[in-house]
Amino acid sequence: MKKKILVTGGTGYIGSHTTVELINSGYEVIIVDDLSNSELSVLDGIEKITGIKPGFVKFDLCDRERLMQFFEDEKNITAIIHFAASKSVGESVQKPLKYYRNNLVSLINLIEGMQQHNVTRMVFSSSCTVYGQPDTLPVSENAPVKPAASPYGNTKQISEEMLQDVLSSDEILHCISLRYFNPIGAHPTGWIGEHPMGKPENLVPYVTQTAIGLRSHLRVFGIDYHTPDGSAIRDYLHVVDLAKAHVAAINRMLEGKQKDNYEVFNLGTGKGYSVLEIIHTFEEATGVKVKYVITDRRPGDVEKVWADTTKANRELGWYAKSSLAEALVSAWKWEQYYRKNYRKP
Ligand code: UFG
Repeated sequence: MKKKILVTGGTGYIGSHTTVELINSGYEVIIVDDLSNSELSVLDGIEKITGIKPGFVKFDLCDRERLMQFFEDEKNITAIIHFAASKSVGESVQKPLKYYRNNLVSLINLIEGMQQHNVTRMVFSSSCTVYGQPDTLPVSENAPVKPAASPYGNTKQISEEMLQDVLSSDEILHCISLRYFNPIGAHPTGWIGEHPMGKPENLVPYVTQTAIGLRSHLRVFGIDYHTPDGSAIRDYLHVVDLAKAHVAAINRMLEGKQKDNYEVFNLGTGKGYSVLEIIHTFEEATGVKVKYVITDRRPGDVEKVWADTTKANRELGWYAKSSLAEALVSAWKWEQYYRKNYRKP
């Protein structure tokens, strides 16, 4: 019998790509998502790619009773990958309580549900935002956690601390927190990808929406950073590589290979690119021009960050394989597919 993985937030951007990789690796997937920031049509994309439609149940994980009922109904969940969370840095500054409630109450409910129903393994979606602007680069898992720059970032820090506390009081539970750098791109088929509701905050969706004519121009937030071309540097990794890291983390847990019941891994490529390099690589790889203007820095942005991936390479046996150009081409393929089939520009 296939092992069943609960993927919370499985219709979201990283969740949907991870669902595909889990199915391709022989797992059964059941998704729980409240569709607050995703669309049901994602399930069709997953089915088109894998030939299998994952299970899907719609509810909000903050609804404790509903979640407990779910655990009663689904008796044989082997492990959980917990993506479901609000993730807009800007919105979190405007509506902090929404973030503290959504991201923390759902995690508390989920852990309690696991404890009561003997589900012992969880992979948690965290972020490199916990490092702030690191003192040394590349940044390793041992780098100190810096004060959060946004309520969103704070929810990730608090979640990790909460998990650590719970896991030191409960040796049966096992968890791996994955700290993502900047996930970009889409499935190479172009059948699933990122579809931000409203105006995108992140760079690559803004680039593809500008390229397709939905936005008049891209703003480059600052070219006065201490970097070779003055624009800020990030570690952009292909979402399919990122999805595969989740499968590696699940395998590690289920094979009993964890060295501690709470582990943390950085997931990035180990290489940084500037905003201007992203634009120019996109233009070269797709042949489409992107109109941009230079504006002031965006408050809260760090200057440069990229990952030390040694630990993930060694312990998970995982490497980010795709090039930046491949990731950008896939994002462009998805943007065109999405506008043609779902939302016209
Ligand atoms: N940028 C622009 N113009 C845009 C959008 C972004 O110039 O329209 C720049 C940003 O200033 C930054 C880079 O592109 O230098 C990347 O910005 P993103 O918003 O794509 O990504 P961030 O690095 O700001 O944010 C990501 C995740 C967050 C996470 C954060 C931690 O999206 O969830 O990393 O650093 F909290």
